[in-house]
Parts: sequence; structure tokens; C-alpha cells
Amino acid sequence: MSKRRRIICAGNGLATLNFAIHLRTDVELLIIAADDFSISNSFMAKGGIAIPVSETDIEQHIRDTIVTGDGLCNVEAVKDIIGAGRQLIPDLEQVGFVFDDSMGREGGHSTSRIRHVGDETGRYLTQHLQKKVMKMPNVHILSPLQLLDLKFENNVCTGVLVGDKRNDVLQWISGDAVVLATGGCGNLYRNNTNGILTNGEGFAIANRAGAKLSGMEFMQFHPTMLYQKHSGTNALITEAFRGAGAVLRNHEMKDLMHDIHPSGSLAPRDIVSRSMYNEMKATGVESLWLDFSSISKERVEKEFPSLYQICKQNGYLASSRIPVTPAAHYMCGGVITNTLGETSMEGLYAIGEIANTGLHGANRLASNSLLELMVVSERAAKQINNMPEKNEKTIIPFKGDSRDLNSVIDKMTEHLKSLMWANFGIIRNEAEMNRGITELNTMQDELNVLHKKESINIALNQMINRVQTALLIAQSAIHRKESKGCHYRDDMPLK
Ligand code: SIN
Repeated sequence: MSKRRRIICAGNGLATLNFAIHLRTDVELLIIAADDFSISNSFMAKGGIAIPVSETDIEQHIRDTIVTGDGLCNVEAVKDIIGAGRQLIPDLEQVGFVFDDSMGREGGHSTSRIRHVGDETGRYLTQHLQKKVMKMPNVHILSPLQLLDLKFENNVCTGVLVGDKRNDVLQWISGDAVVLATGGCGNLYRNNTNGILTNGEGFAIANRAGAKLSGMEFMQFHPTMLYQKHSGTNALITEAFRGAGAVLRNHEMKDLMHDIHPSGSLAPRDIVSRSMYNEMKATGVESLWLDFSSISKERVEKEFPSLYQICKQNGYLASSRIPVTPAAHYMCGGVITNTLGETSMEGLYAIGEIANTGLHGANRLASNSLLELMVVSERAAKQINNMPEKNEKTIIPFKGDSRDLNSVIDKMTEHLKSLMWANFGIIRNEAEMNRGITELNTMQDELNVLHKKESINIALNQMINRVQTALLIAQSAIHRKESKGCHYRDDMPLK
């Protein structure tokens, strides 16, 4: 039996990297990565990290978070995570990462407090930490591997089941603890700002293992995804752009939010997304306009360089307007954890978007997610550093079922995305949700028929996990008999 501790972390985003950085080098870390670290929501994060501007701003940042969270935040978690925020700046400086001098403003924040690097903070931070992790001799990246399940012995999580789609080989890998950092589930929706891997399989896996989840009805929709009918793009136009003065307009170029909310286009994103959805439905259009004529081209190029390139490539600079649509963006709920990343199951941790620390409540304050991810992943690592070596370490490979089920799975995926968008989207009601649940149950039955008990098909198992996560969202949504945060029902309007 190996005497070295082994931790398994599933996920290829920033949470995994920051966890790795803080793990002691005498602990072996196996990273289960489905793809490159650039294929993650954190890499794609545009706005930045919300950090209190000063010691005196901590209270206000806490209040902004709680107001946006619509009464469902865990106030202790909010105080704990936001209180730890300011330390991030010197900590990151110590590893050579420095933010721009300016601070961005996003919806729901009462002041400009978004620390950023241009408009690609997630990319720069991921690349910076990845370079460091690649040099750590205790870290081994196993990729591309799909996480399919968790292994438990005597109610303690002792490992993972992973699959390699290139050769249909599966492996049971055991370790002393497992960390889920598999991200969110926006890609279950037709319109989404997420990466192609963000299919939410981790939620189903954790749920099946018995971990407690909550808040799955709180999918946050972002108002401004670039709309391009045939390109399938999911580029996010950062809210900081509206913070800089860009205005949402309808097809008559009327300021959409002017009469709806005192903060206009910078109103909380659930209100903006809903107003856009209603306008698009009423007028039968698939997009609205984001008018940036009040911002000089020089400022766009300097402060929003990646957006400037999008505008240049698509010819939006001349008209100073971009076609946009709201889109599924961030799962506020998830696997319940404390602010050390511990779940309800021994040996199982969750960090990043999959985790629900209680910081976001019913609606996440913009750019609080990277703050939470950085604080909690560091603490989870430090917690695990003190853990004793417990389990036998084994890796048991076996051959899976190699049937090519791609065409049926692709068809079902398209159906699932349309269903989630239509029945569990920005505006919901009992009848639509019930119809959606019936269809999801039918899908699950069809998948069970394809599933052979004696052998595992990797793509099929992933699809089963996706539909189970969709059902977690659906069931949470139908059980919440009110409109709250980003869960809005037109049969139960806001009080
Ligand atoms: C944005 O830049 O608009 C997204 C920020 C966030 O979702 O936290």
C-alpha cells in the first residue's frame, strides 16, 4: 500500500488549478480533465473578480450580495467569503499575477469593484496558474478522461470511475479524497454562454452518491450573449460594457430598460433578461441591440480588447451596436458545501460552480463566482493538506461497451437543450414545467433501455448524467411555488 496521499480532482477550470497550487507537494494530485483548461467557464469569464474596494466596502459588498441573493443567501458564508476577498490581491501578486488599475462596475454592485485584466480575466488567470501547476511534480493531469461516477466504501468517498472515449477503456481510480470541480450546467440550455463541456454531469453524479444539493432551480440567465443565427457562437458580452455606458435597445432603438428600472440597462440581470425575453416574444425577434455609441472606439479597444475584436470581425464598429440575446449563464445552486469545500459526504469536496456554499442564494451577484472559487479552492486544499493518509490506492482498468450511439445521443442532446430553454428557461410556469418533466422522464426511460447492465458505454453514461441533472433542475423548479431570484414563474409573479 502506497504511503503517499493521493487526491483526485475532477475538472479542467480555475478551481482545479487554484486547488493544485495550494496543495502540499508531498500530496499526489491526479487531475481528471475532460479537455484542455481553456475549455472551461472560468477561462471564459470576462468581467473579473468582485473584491471589496476597501475595508469599509466589505459591509456594502456583503449587502449587495444579500440583496441580489433575494433572501436565500447563507449570511455567514457571505460574510466569510467576502471578508476573505481583499487578501486575494496580495496573494495573487505574490505568485506574479497583477490586476489592471481600473475597476469595473457590474449590475447589482453599488460601486465599481470588479478587479480585472482587460476583458479576459478568466483566461489570463487560468493561463498564469496553469503554467505554475504544470511545473509541480506531484500533479498529474489525466486527459481526456470523462468523470462518470464516484466510488464509496462505508459511506466514505474513495475514488472515481472515469472513461476514455478514444478507446472505450474505463478505470476505477482510488484516492484519499475526491474533489469535484466540474463546473456548471449551462450547456444543457439551447442559448448559453458556457463552454461545450459544461453539461452538468457532476451534479447528477454527486446526487446519485447521496450528497445534498440545493438551489438547482436558480439557473442565472445573462442578458447579453452575442447573437449570430448560424454560427452557434456563445460569446458573452460582459456586463461591464453596460457598466461603461452601453445601452440595450429594442428594434425601434428605444431604450428598453429606461421605464422598467431606475438602473436602466444595468439593472439586476434577472430583471434585464426577463424584460428582453418579453420584448423578443412580443415583437417576434430573436435578438435585441446593445448600443455602444456613447463609448469611444478608443475606449472599447483599450478596456474591452476581446470585444473590440469581435466588433471588428463582424462589422459592428460602424453602427456601434451589437445583436444580443439573453442566455443561460451560471448555476447558483449545486452541491451543498461549507466554505472549506466539504460536502455532506465524507471524503467528497466540491469547489467552483458545482458547489453551493450559500454565497449566491437565489441569484448570484456578478463576479462573485471567481471570488468564491478562489477562496474556497484554497481552503479545501489547506484542509486536505492536514488529512491523514487513509485508503489503498489502486487503478483498475476495464473495457467498456463500444457501441457507437452518437447519432441517437446527438439528437437527444438537441431535444434536451430546446426543452430546457422552453420549459425551464427565463420565464416558467406550472403547465410548461410539468410538460418538461414528462418529456425528461421519457428521455430517461429511453436511455435506460439503451443501457446494458453488464457493460458501460461512456457517451451513454454521460447522457444519462445530463438528463439526470436536467431533472434535478426541473424538480427543484416545480417545487418552488413562488418567483424568487432567477427562478421566475409567470403564474406566481413577484410579490
Ligand atoms: C460578465 O462579465 O458580465 C459576467 C460576469 C459574471 O457573470 O460574473
